[in-house]
Amino acid sequence: MEEKKYSITIAGGGSTFTPGICLLLLEHMDRFPIRKIQFYDNFKERQETIAKACEIYLKENAPEVEFGYTTDPETAFTDVDFVMCHIRVGLYAMREKDEKIPLKYGVVGQETCGPGGLAYGMRSIGGVIEILDYMEKYSPNAWMLNYSNPAAIVAEATRRLRPDSKILNICDMPIDLEEKMASMIGLSSRKELDVGYYGLNHFGWWHSIKDQNGNDLMPEIKKHVAANGFADALSKTNQHVEQSWIETFSKAKDVYALDPDTIPNTYLKYYLYPDYVVEHSDPNHTRANEVMEHREKNIFTICQNIIDKGTAKDGGFEPDAHAEYIVDLACALATNTKEKFLLIVPNEGAVENFDRTAMVEIPCYVGINGYERVVQGAIPQFQKGLMEQQVSVEKLVVEAWIEGSYQKMWQAMTLSKIVPSAKVAKQILDEMIEANKDFWPELK
Ligand code: NAD
Ligand code: LMR
Repeated sequence: MEEKKYSITIAGGGSTFTPGICLLLLEHMDRFPIRKIQFYDNFKERQETIAKACEIYLKENAPEVEFGYTTDPETAFTDVDFVMCHIRVGLYAMREKDEKIPLKYGVVGQETCGPGGLAYGMRSIGGVIEILDYMEKYSPNAWMLNYSNPAAIVAEATRRLRPDSKILNICDMPIDLEEKMASMIGLSSRKELDVGYYGLNHFGWWHSIKDQNGNDLMPEIKKHVAANGFADALSKTNQHVEQSWIETFSKAKDVYALDPDTIPNTYLKYYLYPDYVVEHSDPNHTRANEVMEHREKNIFTICQNIIDKGTAKDGGFEPDAHAEYIVDLACALATNTKEKFLLIVPNEGAVENFDRTAMVEIPCYVGINGYERVVQGAIPQFQKGLMEQQVSVEKLVVEAWIEGSYQKMWQAMTLSKIVPSAKVAKQILDEMIEANKDFWPELK
């Protein structure tokens, strides 16, 4: 029988992550053979720069792979097996507002946590649902692997609005942290860890980490986290190297101190130490500025150089090692590997004492028919309390989007642990509405 080869569409073709993912796909063709790669974006010029450079690279390195890029949904989503979706509705210019508007009121400004994340959620829902609908219309058997942020809100929206769709929502942060924990204790890969984890996206905890023989690795990892957070480890990825990330990895030590039975996701610092985060933020220069000044500028300069020279042989592009999990996930769906991943899925009792309809982040086995949850049991009161508040915030945002409800969005902002009062919530919301008028549904 002839080997099956897959057709991939990368949605958000103009993303700074696209070249890295494209090269990574080529690197793994022995286990995940590809016949076609297409880019899709709704911003023609931005995508063109990335795509033309990738086209040159592909011609030189994998001429057998058919390549195309388009802003036309029918062309992009016809004859596709997998859609890899990483869009940023509003681009970095809007991320900057997500971060800077809350900071004006002394509130954490972050792209996925607190008011910034809620604002970004209100922009992302429509974009991701639109791409899901295109995929289902033109390639009804395809799978969408979504890692567009804010993943918690996007996942809840897909649960509410497209419950039967073939979409898996996944985040790279737990993967990066597992790499760090493996490296801390001298293991070569996170794949040597067998983990128990529960939470919401960007809001979770490891409660068990064993090696493949069942030996408990938590005591040794905890020693490192108690002393230095995640800073003891250097992961093989190069994604998180800026100063702001180094501080985040160190601060995990103080987050861990609150519950030494579990190991926390780094994003919990925004909820548990918001005062510290605000004190250490520059309201005039946030992560969006860092990324625009470095990552975005570098990628577009590299692409333009490749286009000008007509060759990618002088280098510049690198496979995005941190994104290997996306290939693993596609492989699991395509070839039934039954590998375990942390996915964002409807709870349905996997976290026993928690809302069955919540989108939780938990380990799942993935195979040809999708995912099977690994039951995590009952969670402690501390985590349950935090998660109940946060899941309500996320559900209220999705309800606000569906119903066009100002009231629910105000409730969501007010309920966010990071926001001090309904008054401040309203001030931030009103400014966010003005800033997002091209992207949000009208709220009444
Ligand atoms: P980016 O701004 O560089 O690229 C996003 C692209 O999406 C842009 O080219 C934009 O034009 C396009 N886009 C926006 N709305 C669209 C729509 N409705 N339809 C089609 N295309 C659309 O952003 P980025 O930094 O590359 O991030 C992309 C997404 O990936 C974000 O949501 C980000 O939070 C997420 N992210 C994922 C990971 C990961 O797990 N690999 C890591 C970091 C960021
Ligand atoms: C995040 O902050 O979660 C991501 O968008 C990663 C990044 O580079 O900012």
